[in-house]
Amino acid sequence: MTSAAIDLSNVEKTYRGRIRALRGVQMRVEKGEVFGLLGPNGAGKSTLVKILTSVVHPTRCTGTLLDAPIGDKKALARVGYLPENPRFPDYLTGGQVLDLFGALAKIPRAERRRRADDLLATVGMTKWARTKIGRYSKGMRQRIGLAQALMNDPEIVFLDEPTDGVDPVGRREIREMLVRMRDDGRTVMLNSHLLSEAETVCGRVAIMVKGKVVRHGALDDLTRHSRRYEIEAAGPLPSGDHWRSLVHGLGAEVRSLGGAPREASLVVAPTDEPEPIQALLDALRAARAVVRSVRPVRASLEDLFLEAVQSMGEEGAGVGGQKGRDAAGKGAER
Ligand SMILES: Nc1ncnc2c1ncn2[C@@H]1O[C@H](COP(=O)(O)OP(=O)(O)O)[C@@H](O)[C@H]1O
Ligand SMILES: [Mg+2]
Repeated sequence: MTSAAIDLSNVEKTYRGRIRALRGVQMRVEKGEVFGLLGPNGAGKSTLVKILTSVVHPTRCTGTLLDAPIGDKKALARVGYLPENPRFPDYLTGGQVLDLFGALAKIPRAERRRRADDLLATVGMTKWARTKIGRYSKGMRQRIGLAQALMNDPEIVFLDEPTDGVDPVGRREIREMLVRMRDDGRTVMLNSHLLSEAETVCGRVAIMVKGKVVRHGALDDLTRHSRRYEIEAAGPLPSGDHWRSLVHGLGAEVRSLGGAPREASLVVAPTDEPEPIQALLDALRAARAVVRSVRPVRASLEDLFLEAVQSMGEEGAGVGGQKGRDAAGKGAER
């Protein structure tokens, strides 16, 4: 097995001797992937990233980042980081912020000017390069934050809620930037409580709840158990022995949806194979059912997430100082 970008076997963090933000985290992020670190507010995502970037001291930490122990200075020089709610000095322009971060990374002046120009173009901020940060919207600050995280040409980039406060168009652009970062050969760790965002760009994810990783793996694998076909037909299904025996054979289930005038029936077949569905469709149509749609369905990340949060809620109620409602990701910000 090739070495991982991040390989953690046990990370713990207790703030002020009593707030157990991380309770034994294990995680593996492969090189060159966009990895989603997901979880409700207060789960410990930012704390974990701050430990990996040496912003916060761990209580206990066994693991490696870019093949070096966590905190190793040489490895940190190969890391990019967009913190949550980044703050840059209001009196600097976007261009000056990039220059400052380039200087902190000890990049020679000419080179950092070239990189800043490239990155400003990448994040769509060329026009605003000479405007002071104080006049930027939240979304513009996030864009400069993204550019800043790339100034040192990092191998791995930590992005903590990069689309926070960004409008839908900007969100899509940021998602595209993440994919480009991966295509450039970087590893991306995306912290997010926005699941649809992670669903479109991450191959693998970890879901954290109350300081623990409760799900970890490829989205495809994590949702495999829930894959099914849904066949929707207009109205109640006609009588017919043939289709009924096929439904029975597949272990499928028939539901009726809504009432007139859009009354419909739904056949839910617990399989992700298209072949057995064909015979069922033929039988339904032979019985004169009007098929409206045939859809392969799998659990969304949201389903997975709610399932994980609920299972943790039952197991570890009251730990981590989170209210139950927050755990559904819908509660107020801290
Ligand atoms: N500096 C801090 N001091 C004390 N508690 C903190 C600090 N930072 C975070 N916490 C607590 O640690 C837990 C995890 O927080 P955080 O890592 O920010 O979670 P997330 O990023 O998933 O929302 C929360 O209960 C939070 O209140
Ligand atoms: Mg956070």
